[in-house]
Amino acid sequence: MSRNPRKILVTSALPYANGDIHIGHLVEYIQTDIWARFQRLRGHECYYVCADDTHGTPIMLRARQEGITPEALIARVHDEHLRDFTGFHIAFDNYHSTNSEENRELAQGIYRRLRDAGLIEARTIRQLYDPEQEMFLPDRFIKGECPKCHAKDQYGDGCEACGTTYAPTDLIAPYSAVSGATPVTRETEHYFFRLSACGDFLRDWMARPRPNTGEPPLQPEAANKLEEWFEAGLRDWDITRDAPYFGFEIPEAPGKYLYVWLDAPVGYMASFLDLCRRTGLDFDEFWGPESQTELWHFIGKDILYFHALFWPATLHFAGYRTPDKVCVHGFLTVNGQKMSKSRGTFIAARTYLEHLDPEYLRYYFAAKLNDRVEDIDLNLDDFIARVNSNLVGKYVNIASRSSGFITKRFGGRLAAQITAEQEALIGRFQEAAEAIAECYERRQFSEAMRRIMALADEANEYFNDTRPWEVAKRQGEEPQLQQILTTCLNLFRLLTLYLKPVLPQLAERAEEFLNIPPLRWSDASLLLVDHVINPYQHLMTRIEPKQVEAMVEASRENLAGNSSAPSPAEEKTPLEPIAPEITIDDFMKVDLRVARLVEARPVEGADKLLALTLDLGGETRNVFAGIKSAYAPADLEGRLVVMVANLKPRKMRFGVSEGMVLAAGPGGGDIFLLSPDSGAEPGMRVK
Ligand code: MSP
Ligand code: ZN
Repeated sequence: MSRNPRKILVTSALPYANGDIHIGHLVEYIQTDIWARFQRLRGHECYYVCADDTHGTPIMLRARQEGITPEALIARVHDEHLRDFTGFHIAFDNYHSTNSEENRELAQGIYRRLRDAGLIEARTIRQLYDPEQEMFLPDRFIKGECPKCHAKDQYGDGCEACGTTYAPTDLIAPYSAVSGATPVTRETEHYFFRLSACGDFLRDWMARPRPNTGEPPLQPEAANKLEEWFEAGLRDWDITRDAPYFGFEIPEAPGKYLYVWLDAPVGYMASFLDLCRRTGLDFDEFWGPESQTELWHFIGKDILYFHALFWPATLHFAGYRTPDKVCVHGFLTVNGQKMSKSRGTFIAARTYLEHLDPEYLRYYFAAKLNDRVEDIDLNLDDFIARVNSNLVGKYVNIASRSSGFITKRFGGRLAAQITAEQEALIGRFQEAAEAIAECYERRQFSEAMRRIMALADEANEYFNDTRPWEVAKRQGEEPQLQQILTTCLNLFRLLTLYLKPVLPQLAERAEEFLNIPPLRWSDASLLLVDHVINPYQHLMTRIEPKQVEAMVEASRENLAGNSSAPSPAEEKTPLEPIAPEITIDDFMKVDLRVARLVEARPVEGADKLLALTLDLGGETRNVFAGIKSAYAPADLEGRLVVMVANLKPRKMRFGVSEGMVLAAGPGGGDIFLLSPDSGAEPGMRVK
């Protein structure tokens, strides 16, 4: 690699703005983030940009369905996506939107340049049209009977029952998925990008080693795929969509829009341009035709065609530089199967974060990822076992075992000198830095993790073999004890550095514990001696299987809430109308108190009631409550409830009721008593 420090621009694919980020997406964003963080630790100038992919028919229709504008939809989703990514410590330098002025400027500019280079051709095509909605229908929005197996309700691009692909015009009894209307065929003029004229350029681009990396831009599997496509013949690309469409208009062609996949990758440039305008970076240095900086894209295998054919061709013929590397990864499976909503393995980023530490998943993906286009599996049992045994049991363990003695016996001070043998052990850990760096550089993260954990094993063996807990008991062996622990903590420091691209937050806490400035890769050669560390603070807890179970359960439940069909709850119970407005004075007339439920008894002759004895903090009340269908008396005794303390006493058949306890729910088994948070005392007023 030529220059040092390197200047690198790296991207992940832009997620669609009409869905939540899920753990499948995270394979890519975590992979890219680890690589970008590694480059920064090495001292290189590395910018990681991304954006939401906001245009197209599905987003337009989704907004319409929610009764909001596309702009409102994409603004909301932008916030949600960024919050999810931040939750997983994905450190973008910029997270922009394809629906931005920067992107309009660049995308329309690229179109004009391609047109002026003679690479755009107008053709009249025939396409299915929804006469009710007055719109042309994309293939996915036409349904009908499969011409081959006669399965009903199949999409316009292919049959999910028998796997046949066909044109939407081949469907039997087609109908519009938007309105249900029978589509008619209409003519329209579309602009095509002449990919068929780009074959020579593309073959050369994919075969030639890049000056920056010394390697061709594609992995072997991806290159093979391109060979297949070349053999089949490159087809011109329809880059036009008719109004109504949410996107950018084609210059000098009113009512015609750029197809979303033309402006989507331009979003990489737009996000970087936005960053340049805010920070003073030089856009042309990174994107100009003579650029010598590095450009790396990380993508999933499903979008290779767009990134390895259309994208380099549009860039080149519009007068920009082309990518140095397109890194393709496979798809995520969970427990060996496709992610599934009904199995609860279609896990949203947000749902994960409600149950588990993001660094568990970062570590697990790192332990599985390599530089090949292979699917990777998240096996949930293996996930728990690996994180617990490697991260907590091996890595964190070294710090927690070594720190106690150092703090208690030496006031946190490390030895000023260690033995030659100890230096040699630390030296071996230091020498591993280059091999581990090479693994990160080549995206062989699983190999990096394997090497790091082998070192962690060695560190633990050293601790076990030197038996500091016994040395601590022997008179006059203080210096030896301090040296052993100093050695262990130096090993821990190196492991922290090596894991830092994967575990940025944990590394930060470890740096605080070690009382050192943020580690950089070049710090591998340092030795930490005669230095005072901070008392050990808990670094990471083990995963409890029940946390994972709860996450899977919650993902299963999410199905009802997320699908377009109404959830059972929505079907059963429309919101009870809100009562007429009251003033604060009206509200204050109700004296609500915390009470302890001392006793609960069934009431003879009343099958819905329980007789409750309530302690109001000095005063006792008897209340009859209709909660028998939902609570067993024994489960109630001793708990706190909220009661209306100044309700007029009411004479009932079984006695006098002196108040009311608060509960929600429709009745039957669905009655839910209110309880104050712990710390509340009987008699306290609720207001
Ligand atoms: N919007 C396009 C990309 C435009 S890039 C100019 C898109 N969006 S996406 O939301 O469907 O996917 C974003 C990225 O996540 C893609 O690289 C895709 O391959 C990846 N993944 C989506 N689901 C995935 C898995 N289940 N497993 C691994 N990666 C997955 O495509
Ligand atoms: Zn079929």
